[in-house]
Amino acid sequence: MNKLAPSILAADFFRLGEQISAVEKAGAQLLHIDVMDGAFVPSISFGMPLIKSIRKNSGLVFDVHLMINEPDRYIDDFAASGADMITVHAEACTHLNRTLSHIREKGLKAGVALNPSTPLNVLDYIYDDVDMILIMSVNPGFGGQKFIPGTMDKLRELKKILAAKNKNIDVQVDGGINLNNVAEVMAAGANVIVSGSSVFNGDIDSNVRHFLEIMGENE
Ligand code: DX5
Ligand code: ZN
Repeated sequence: MNKLAPSILAADFFRLGEQISAVEKAGAQLLHIDVMDGAFVPSISFGMPLIKSIRKNSGLVFDVHLMINEPDRYIDDFAASGADMITVHAEACTHLNRTLSHIREKGLKAGVALNPSTPLNVLDYIYDDVDMILIMSVNPGFGGQKFIPGTMDKLRELKKILAAKNKNIDVQVDGGINLNNVAEVMAAGANVIVSGSSVFNGDIDSNVRHFLEIMGENE
């Protein structure tokens, strides 16, 4: 199933609650929450208190993208804050298998993210341990960056691997996705679409509906 995951990194934080309700009402399925530690990535965003506070008023599936070093240290905290899914970076985990098991033990869905320069073979021995694979289409750290074209080949390659292994794992793509390239990334193999600026800049309701319309046509 195709799913849209608006990234609140691009939201107006003064009106965050209102904007989350708007994406929910327009039909988005997930809420993408970008947590940055200023070490794994250059920037710092937000963390547990924010998630806990928006959890009270949102029924969306909380898709927490941890751009932090050794995320294992914080899995319990993010689970307690209200995450439904936690995605960790393969590059940030010394014991990736352990961290993914930890996420599942908390009853959450486990995702693994790969930076644009990280090869797919780091996934070779963990296909049984993941519910979602996140292919980064920008270098993580900031919203509003340009989509890296080489991502298309990576998505196509992953699609082939998953088909050969007969694995039904969600494939998420994140960074620089807009109404003009979303159909192409879906054709290449992504079914979970993250979008920050293209959802929150302008009319949120109409942006989400346009994304979902295109995504429905590519189901
Ligand atoms: C980048 C984040 C993205 C970002 C996407 O480090 O992981 O989720 O918010 O923003 P856009 O859609 O503006 O590229
Ligand atoms: Zn993200």
